Amino acid sequence: MKVLSGIQPTGRFHWGNYFGAIRQYIALQGNEQSFYFIADLHALTTLRNPAELRQNVSDAAMDLLALGLEPERSTLFRQSDVPEVTELTWLLMTITQMHLLEKCHAYKDKKANGIAADAGLFTYPVLMAADILIYDSDTVPVGADQIQHIEVTRDVAQRFNSLYGETLLLPNAFVLDASAKVPGTDGDRKMSKSYNNTIPIFESPKRLRKLIMSTKTDSKSLEDEKDPDTCAVFSLYRLFATLEQQQELAARYRAGGMGYGEAKQALYDVAMSHFADAFDRRQKLEASPDIVEDVLKEGARRARARAQEVVERVRSACGLLARPV
Ligand code: ADP
Ligand code: TRP
Repeated sequence: MKVLSGIQPTGRFHWGNYFGAIRQYIALQGNEQSFYFIADLHALTTLRNPAELRQNVSDAAMDLLALGLEPERSTLFRQSDVPEVTELTWLLMTITQMHLLEKCHAYKDKKANGIAADAGLFTYPVLMAADILIYDSDTVPVGADQIQHIEVTRDVAQRFNSLYGETLLLPNAFVLDASAKVPGTDGDRKMSKSYNNTIPIFESPKRLRKLIMSTKTDSKSLEDEKDPDTCAVFSLYRLFATLEQQQELAARYRAGGMGYGEAKQALYDVAMSHFADAFDRRQKLEASPDIVEDVLKEGARRARARAQEVVERVRSACGLLARPV
């Protein structure tokens, strides 16, 4: 399998990112290709603070390594370290039909809210298509909200192939569980930086506890019977707990006599134990940031070698001459 995925460094990674994306990256390490990148070029469509972007990119790399990406079994790099991807974006842009981009959610939502979109936001899916196609990727692990972009990628690749002959490989989305939307601390929407309802993975235990305790529940009293299936705290607990633990807590919800504070404490305990090793690894990486930089450099070297081959193939297919060496 040739696996590839990217994640935007637009803030600290949270539980939604972990269960919706990062955990899948880790599970898919060690394949014929396991490429993962930090999508700094995509982040520029929304983040315009240079210092913050630099900090986020560095945090993203450390977080991913701490959570379990292993440089021997996967390739981690910064998107902008492979300039060929922007070249391929242009080549694809010349054959991408407007209607494909006009129906994409990020752009459509902005337009519906009366906000003017930049060309970068509008053509965001073409850069994403280039990210994927430039490594001949066949498997793209993403959260359910990104499936539309993989469809655009396939459409673009198909159109290129029908115009210029078989050149690009059509990728497939790999969605661990299309219904697994991690709920946020507001209790009803999906966890997202845009909704300010996230639980960041690498928070201090004190802050983590506070965020968990602040997760919204209904107003049932301690004695009342409660419904685990509609409770955000329980949905979050399920992500970390064993089946047995889940059944046990669900039974306590239904029996009544347990307050939400207890369920939240149980959530805090399973989460802390789940991330204990990652916390340790992150501390060690913070003490030696050079290791992280070396991983990214080596990652870019490997990714570029692959990207150069594919871009040459695409250039030649559409009639551009081979670049003089
Ligand atoms: P955010 O919504 O916080 O800005 P991103 O859009 O950068 O997060 O998401 C990065 C990855 O994490 C994507 O693959 C996305 O599908 C996944 N993801 C983000 N939030 C969730 C969530 N609440 N549940 C499941 N997956 C999520
Ligand atoms: N758009 C993706 C997101 O917001 C990030 C991304 C950029 C990506 N390029 C990609 C994901 C290529 C998979 C493949 O989550």
